[in-house]
Amino acid sequence: VAKKRSDYRAPDFLIDHVDMAFHLDVTQTRVISTSRFTRNGQHQSPLVLDGENLQLISVTINGEPVTDYHQSDEHLTLNINQNDFELCIETRINPQENKTLEGLYFSGGAYCTQCEAEGFRKITYFLDRPDVLAKYDVTIFADKTRYPHMLSNGNQIDKGELDDGRHWVKWQDPFKKPSYLFALVAGNFDLLTDRFVTQSGRSVALELYVDKGALDKGHHALASLKKAMAWDEQVFGLEYDLDIYMIVAVDFFNMGAMENKGLNVFNSKFVLADAESATDDDFFNIEAVIGHEYFHNWTGNRVTCRDWFQLSLKEGLTVFRDQQFSADMSSPVFNRIKNVQIIREHQFAEDASAMAHPIRPEEVIEMNNFYTVTVYDKGAEVIRMMHTLLGAAGFRQGMDLYFSRFDGQAVTCDDFVQAMQDATQVDLSQFRRWYSQSGTPKVKVTDSFDAKTGVYHIDFTQNTPPTADQKVKQNLHIPFKFELLDEKGNSISDDSVPELSAKMIELTSRVHRITVTGLQAKPTPSLLHDFSAPIKVDYAYSHQQLSNIILYSGDDFARWDASQRLYSRCIHNLAISPDTPDDELLDSMLQAVQGIFDIADVNPALAGAMLSLPSFETLSQQVDEIQVEALYHAQRSVRNLIATTLSDQWSTLYHKQAVVPYRYVADDVDSRRLRNLSLSYLVQAGAPQSSDILLAQFAQADNMTDCLGVLKAAQFGELKQFDQLMEQFETRWRHDPLVLDKWFALHANMERSDILVRLPLLLSHDKFSLDNPNRVRSVLGSFAFYNVLGFHAVDGSGYKFLADYILKLNSVNPQVAARIITPLTQWQKFDEKRRELMRYQLARIADCQDLSKDLIEKVSKSLNYT
Ligand code: ARG
Ligand code: ZN
Repeated sequence: VAKKRSDYRAPDFLIDHVDMAFHLDVTQTRVISTSRFTRNGQHQSPLVLDGENLQLISVTINGEPVTDYHQSDEHLTLNINQNDFELCIETRINPQENKTLEGLYFSGGAYCTQCEAEGFRKITYFLDRPDVLAKYDVTIFADKTRYPHMLSNGNQIDKGELDDGRHWVKWQDPFKKPSYLFALVAGNFDLLTDRFVTQSGRSVALELYVDKGALDKGHHALASLKKAMAWDEQVFGLEYDLDIYMIVAVDFFNMGAMENKGLNVFNSKFVLADAESATDDDFFNIEAVIGHEYFHNWTGNRVTCRDWFQLSLKEGLTVFRDQQFSADMSSPVFNRIKNVQIIREHQFAEDASAMAHPIRPEEVIEMNNFYTVTVYDKGAEVIRMMHTLLGAAGFRQGMDLYFSRFDGQAVTCDDFVQAMQDATQVDLSQFRRWYSQSGTPKVKVTDSFDAKTGVYHIDFTQNTPPTADQKVKQNLHIPFKFELLDEKGNSISDDSVPELSAKMIELTSRVHRITVTGLQAKPTPSLLHDFSAPIKVDYAYSHQQLSNIILYSGDDFARWDASQRLYSRCIHNLAISPDTPDDELLDSMLQAVQGIFDIADVNPALAGAMLSLPSFETLSQQVDEIQVEALYHAQRSVRNLIATTLSDQWSTLYHKQAVVPYRYVADDVDSRRLRNLSLSYLVQAGAPQSSDILLAQFAQADNMTDCLGVLKAAQFGELKQFDQLMEQFETRWRHDPLVLDKWFALHANMERSDILVRLPLLLSHDKFSLDNPNRVRSVLGSFAFYNVLGFHAVDGSGYKFLADYILKLNSVNPQVAARIITPLTQWQKFDEKRRELMRYQLARIADCQDLSKDLIEKVSKSLNYT
């Protein structure tokens, strides 16, 4: 049954303190929790506690045994007369059998928890909702030799040893928190330590726990943490608030990481790195995720969500903060492009599917299904728009007010927007619709110029097409950054047109018009600078106009965007009429690419992005119906054309990049990107020396970026050589699961006719395991999301293959199953035959007995889509 946002009610009871004892045992862990309750308001309602998969041992109230309770699959209900009482509950759980990786689980020889969103109820009976804030004391008991490190939130306040080889540790968290921020870890780790002195001079102990032997791979994560701590002080004036900050890296984890108060738990993928085994992207992601979880300490932990419909309150805001942090640590434009690619490839697709929802969803069956690109990344875009509308200083005032009003509370998205509005007096009433309206708005831009009078009109018309969840749409408040370029590429200014001076127009009604007078020629509008809103823009650019923007726009993002428009146009054109290419269009595209080579010297990060074609996923969102083969082959033809026509330039660009000993610094990252991009074009061009270059780079690379660059490029060359290189790679790296994941992923999204024979081989690889989410994502996730021809094979074999494994995963790890089903739920944009085949597999899944809530929600929504 779905829960609705409008059904929110304050809790009947509050808990202000919990004392927990954990007697850890692999199959029989005892959990004793003693909580102080108070009745919240005047009512006689019973106490209804959440709990799942718990074996109840005993219940006492104020020390008296209770037998008058009712137990169901999801609740424990107690009739209680007192208004203040102490409830003590003992339960037993089985961490080893818990493959869902939610609650307390045992994996890789260690105990670990994941409670967000509703996992705490798998540990004990509790009011497992984010608006119940309590202080926690936690005592952990376990065998001393096997579990020398036993951690929980806050500060360690006591410890001791027992006669039987066990020891115990007591933790106390001085901050009130919701249950989803609870964490416990016990195991045998290597420990990397450091210190950070805060702005106000407090010294914080930093502790990073990794698998035995992995200490050398922890330095980048720890350095990133210190950068994040300093950045939040500088930019937002926010200091860390405990004396210790702990991070634990684990191999079995459903997502990226978790911001538990004072004790973050991380997927090891976002902690461990060294030059040999991690790519530049890995280094980047580690810094970003470490930052993200750290920033949650204020945006999420100190101020948290009232209910889970408000998830974007903390996630949208924290993603925005981590994006700003990453941008400040390296190339702003490159970062912005990355953010936008996520929106265009995945968020637009979500909005176009049966799973469409606003950043603040209205209805939820399984909360885990709503940790989405919409809530996270579109949520961050909504925060960014406020940043744009209020300016950096206004935004900071709003943040300050938000913290001073709500520190220590569980609040709503509306509370946040209200703080922004009150701090700046900017009217955000229409802006709030972004929280309740789903869908991708389109802004159609049309213009006209009268050469006789020199008068230019430009009209902006907004429209949001209906989505699966919501038919009627309203006009939004859209900050739309732009400029007008004259023939020389200069930005036109005109004091009588305020939007031109501001380089921004605030769209609020359906149509807006701007008129500029006294012009000599029709200008080129350079639109949606910096992707100032998460929308699609439709304007009939001439090829020449796009080339002008690429060369002259004052906004680097717009230059990149124009390059992508030009490529997209060529690709779609060729997809529609492969036999009659538009030579004029292709020529102007090739000329533009020529020009981009010159940008490489001044702005290598921008050039790297501009020389890359739009992904299949991005191209898919530009059409109403995806013609799989035609679009795929057109993309390849255009890439081939660029590769072959400009092969000398690619060769020059390749050799221009100095090979230096590996360091993760921006200039070197940009240079490696250009080198590996050139390499893949060289291989595609079938350049005579390309095979030797591949082998030479493979042999000489001192880092994973260049090594993987070879494998990625080799996909475009001879299959035999690719297979040989892959084999060598596997021999070298089979001991390292994170590196092997890259190998799995490359295999799984390789374009080859025998892919459905290869996939089962990967799945029976001795290092593959359905229990480990990273392995599942690297094989099944890569295949379903990125192997275009394999997954969308016309006989439906790719769909069937995925569905078979989703059915297996359903009983192992429903959260992961519900993630990788996403490509099947996006059947709406495909041709009729494929739509049928995809729906057929969805129906097969729907028929399964014991389907998890996670899958029921997604499958039934996508089958009911009309
Ligand atoms: N709060 C975590 C983060 O964004 C992610 C938690 C995801 N939880 C889930 N059930 N999917 O850093
Ligand atoms: Zn987060």
